[in-house]
Amino acid sequence: PSQCHLVPESHRYDCYPERSVVVTQELCESRGCCFIETPPAVGGKRGVPWCFYPPSFPSYVVQSLNQTALGMTGLLVRREKAYYPKDIQVLRMDVEFQTNTRLRIKITDAAKPRYEVPLEVPRVMKRAENPIYSLEFSQDPFGVLLRRQGTGTVLLNTTVAPLIFADQFLQISTTLPSRFLYGLGEHRSTLLHSLDWNTLTLWARDVAPTESFNLYGAHPFYLLMEEGGDAHGVFLLNSNAMEVALQPAPGLTWRTIGGVLDFYIFLGPDPNMVIQQYQEVIGFPAMPPLWALGFHLCRWGYGSSNETWQTARAMRNFQIPQDAQWNDIDYMDGYRDFTFDPQKFASLPSLVEDLHKHGQHYVMILDPGISSTSPHGSYWPFDEGLRRALFLNTTQGQPLIGQVWPGYTAFPDFSNRDTHQWWLENLQRFHTRVPFDGLWIDMNEPSNFMDGSEEGCPPGELDSPPYTPAVLGNSLSAKTVCASAKQNASVHYNLHNLYGLKEAEATASALIHIRGKRPFVISRSTFPSQGRYSGHWLGDNRSQWKDMYYSIPGMLSFSLFGIPLVGADICGFSGSTSEELCTRWMQLGAFYPFSRNHNTQNEKAQDPTAFSPSARTAMKDVLLTRYSLLPFLYTLFHRAHLQGETVARPLFFEFPWDVATYGLDRQFLWGQSLLVTPVLEPGADSVLGYFPRGVWYDFYTGSSVNSSGEMLKLSAPLDHLNLHLREGSILPTQKPGTTSKATRGNPLRLIVALSPRATAWGDLFWDDGESLDTFERGNYSYLVFNATENIFTSNVLHASTEATYVTIDTVSFYGMQEPPSKVLLDGQEKPFSYLDNQVLTVSGLGLRLSQGFSLQWL
Ligand code: GLC
Repeated sequence: PSQCHLVPESHRYDCYPERSVVVTQELCESRGCCFIETPPAVGGKRGVPWCFYPPSFPSYVVQSLNQTALGMTGLLVRREKAYYPKDIQVLRMDVEFQTNTRLRIKITDAAKPRYEVPLEVPRVMKRAENPIYSLEFSQDPFGVLLRRQGTGTVLLNTTVAPLIFADQFLQISTTLPSRFLYGLGEHRSTLLHSLDWNTLTLWARDVAPTESFNLYGAHPFYLLMEEGGDAHGVFLLNSNAMEVALQPAPGLTWRTIGGVLDFYIFLGPDPNMVIQQYQEVIGFPAMPPLWALGFHLCRWGYGSSNETWQTARAMRNFQIPQDAQWNDIDYMDGYRDFTFDPQKFASLPSLVEDLHKHGQHYVMILDPGISSTSPHGSYWPFDEGLRRALFLNTTQGQPLIGQVWPGYTAFPDFSNRDTHQWWLENLQRFHTRVPFDGLWIDMNEPSNFMDGSEEGCPPGELDSPPYTPAVLGNSLSAKTVCASAKQNASVHYNLHNLYGLKEAEATASALIHIRGKRPFVISRSTFPSQGRYSGHWLGDNRSQWKDMYYSIPGMLSFSLFGIPLVGADICGFSGSTSEELCTRWMQLGAFYPFSRNHNTQNEKAQDPTAFSPSARTAMKDVLLTRYSLLPFLYTLFHRAHLQGETVARPLFFEFPWDVATYGLDRQFLWGQSLLVTPVLEPGADSVLGYFPRGVWYDFYTGSSVNSSGEMLKLSAPLDHLNLHLREGSILPTQKPGTTSKATRGNPLRLIVALSPRATAWGDLFWDDGESLDTFERGNYSYLVFNATENIFTSNVLHASTEATYVTIDTVSFYGMQEPPSKVLLDGQEKPFSYLDNQVLTVSGLGLRLSQGFSLQWL
């Protein structure tokens, strides 16, 4: 090929991504590509590709392009074969201008249907009238050029490398308008991805989170910040094993080994809107029950129900908040689902009863692998699953047998509706013995201790595809089942990344059926739309400072993926924690939307009661702080459920015009206004935090700092978590109890963080905390709080009886510049207190939540 030297290094798009061979000039040129050796990157990482596409590499050309009711349809034709087998020569492209901010481009085989992800997506009936984007096509070679109209910024330009569309190798590359790229999970990394020849692989995998490995879930979605603060997002609706290669051009290559190229592009224009628009396609997250937002305690290896009970009792004795007690696999009889150990866990039913009596809940683990070796007639789940043919099958049509905790297991096929029914029946039977409240679904990548099956995997193009993305273990079947395994909806090759999603769907619906209340499910493996059914924890982290830090970008990435109910194992799963680490981690973890302390077996206890009085007290205090914020947190979840807002939020979402926020992942916000600045280092008594421009108030005292947009050093003794309120916000808080149920009945206190112009805004969603679809059925209250021109008002926009059972007792104003001479409640004078740090407090109000009111200060 000619003109190879004209291609700058950063713009070399990899023509030989295979890892199994070292590319030679001969191999490279056999593909018609350019070969130029460059020094390898540091640390043995792959850097500039030696084999890359020449500008003249043949691609598809546009043969026809016609207008349709929703956009356009076109045919793309390849005249010369590319180098992967079963190259598809004629492609059909459908473009839909779905909304003014959303575009869909789908490319598939023009001649016959291919596997598509079974996800319900919105049906659009008419073409967007005033899209804020414009689209052009390059004819030869085929390419998409997408621009944001307002700024002219090119968001996509796919002419930089050829489109390849073979049966098992689909690839498209684009330039990016900046290097500020986020998302593409599940990975352990900084929030902001490096574009320095960074390849991210998406293939659900059971492995302790490690940088650059493919992890438990697959989220082919990125968000990108453009110059000037606009944002857009791109979602590739595809569930096959894939890689996303990032390079400094800046450029990106999608490389998937099946399905179709089905892109959704979201134009924002701000990052919050991008995420909302993404969730309009994949679905908004479920509203969790209130108790899901309390503190959860778990460990592997309590050893018995009595020991589990002991821990829950110790928590109560010290009056440390706890909403749910969990059990790991040790509750089971021989690690088999839907059983419990008749000796060691004999008192389990009584324990659950006791939890319920104390307003607490019980959650246990379930693994998908169903033991296949119990004597026939002794284990209904397997016998019945077999009878109804609900397990994944080998290519020979026999249940595929692998190995998980109980030994040999079969794997339920959750792509089959009948499996959901069987799962429900199993859960119903178990629930009559142990009335659990929520479920923890683990090992659902699915994890298999054998590669493929007890017999390995058969030869063939599914288990040995022409191209294998850079998955850990170099094989699709590494630590999972064979890609060739047969499922109801398709082959496992296509459905692997959906295993956790489909199991979560079955589990959530079973819980609804059994309890008639909002379901609570936490899943390890996830896929887009998971938020509709479950939350997620970040898997098997270690008790190390580094792991505590990584939990923040991990959590924030899941906010981007539409799974707001997320957290990491507080104090670390494997390895042994220290009192200092665990104290700091409890402080950070008290601000995970899903807050659970979990530990592996054979490690020292790390629940709050296991530590010295001072550490225990620090942990208790920060949990009480969380509980005091439950009304605010619950309202944020309502907003997530209603319209896809994020709960734990990166700073740049709120300050997109401030580039200094783009890389911040050691701090985060709850909603728009509560800034969390945890200590992430040992031996510290202070912490550095970035404060975007404006006034920020210390959450606890109301003292203010006026930041010009700078790093500030904050005092952070071991018993203190820094929390700040953004000017202009109103937070509903509540006197904390030791369960969310106890807290619910306590009086509220509103904290009004005034802007310099003495304005502020906030809201509150309130319902019974557990009934199904309270919003949809109108069984809720919604209040809006406003402060402006010396008047604070509480407006009840929607009311229900629930709001008559609780009162607003106190309103605190932070940043009240002058002491008022009078405070009037609905016109009646009220006593108040005023402190030097500009905090005005009016208490003893005793107003029912259901009644609107105003407070005026003169
Ligand atoms: C997996 C889970 C972990 C659990 C363990 C035993 O490693 O990720 O949380 O404790 O299995 O069930």
